[in-house]
Amino acid sequence: MLDRFNRKLNYLRISVTDRCNLRCTYCMPEEGIQLFRHNEILSFDEIAGFTEVAVSNGVTKVRLTGGEPLVRKGVILLVSMLSEINGIEDLSMTTNGTLLKQYAKQLRDAGLHRVNISLDTIDPEKFRIVTRTGDINDVFEGINAAKSAGLLPVKINCVIKDSKEEEEARAVAVFCKDNDLEIRYIRQMDLIRGHFSVVDGGTGGDCSRCNRLRLTSNGKLKPCLFNNIEFDIRKLGFEKAIHQAAESKPECGSRNETGSFYNIGG
Ligand code: 5AD
Ligand code: SF4
Repeated sequence: MLDRFNRKLNYLRISVTDRCNLRCTYCMPEEGIQLFRHNEILSFDEIAGFTEVAVSNGVTKVRLTGGEPLVRKGVILLVSMLSEINGIEDLSMTTNGTLLKQYAKQLRDAGLHRVNISLDTIDPEKFRIVTRTGDINDVFEGINAAKSAGLLPVKINCVIKDSKEEEEARAVAVFCKDNDLEIRYIRQMDLIRGHFSVVDGGTGGDCSRCNRLRLTSNGKLKPCLFNNIEFDIRKLGFEKAIHQAAESKPECGSRNETGSFYNIGG
């Protein structure tokens, strides 16, 4: 599936929940968030059905995100449903890692290929400040569990303010080198002000090469993270939503006043 600017749209990012067990300062507002109601959230059948249609339109890469995807009840079953779809070459998940100790093996057995784990610091105290609640040891144990389960390559998403030479980021880089992990630096973004940039070592942020569509947990298909355009897959039907999203994908991102990261999944 090509868009108006000849970009091949082969990558679908699916946010399976807007909930999260952490409260990262750059992602969630201090006062908390208005969560979607249960009946707004797509069922596993809807997600898998939509993904099948996306794959028949040329999607080959699927990533599950959140909020935190592992807090969605039954997510292992969803992974197994998706892994049965013929044509997905890369099935991955972006997670904060805190629940991987519990789920890594089951995820691998269900057919997940690999994980990206968010880690912005290796200092327990700073981790608690950034996440407002988290225990970094859960993430360290999660990383090890992912490696033992064979969810490889394990990649680390490290959010930086300006540069990868920042003290925290350098410490994460050393940790990654010592532990056989691939690091991706993500500049802290601001959806509302439209501040975004290329992901170092990844494929995000470069509009001319953007191959993504995003599905929110309440069924809105978004052709661009930095734009308000979205298509309701329940109202339009899957096929029509995909075609309209592809046809309206903007040449370049601008601003997004509606979304926050916790419901679009980065
Ligand atoms: N800017 C950049 N990255 C962000 N993430 C969440 N909020 C932001 C933001 N404002 C990242 C998380 C995670 C991924 C899902 O999105 O750190 O790695
Ligand atoms: Fe949760 Fe990820 Fe947002 Fe942190 S960045 S609050 S881990 S969804």
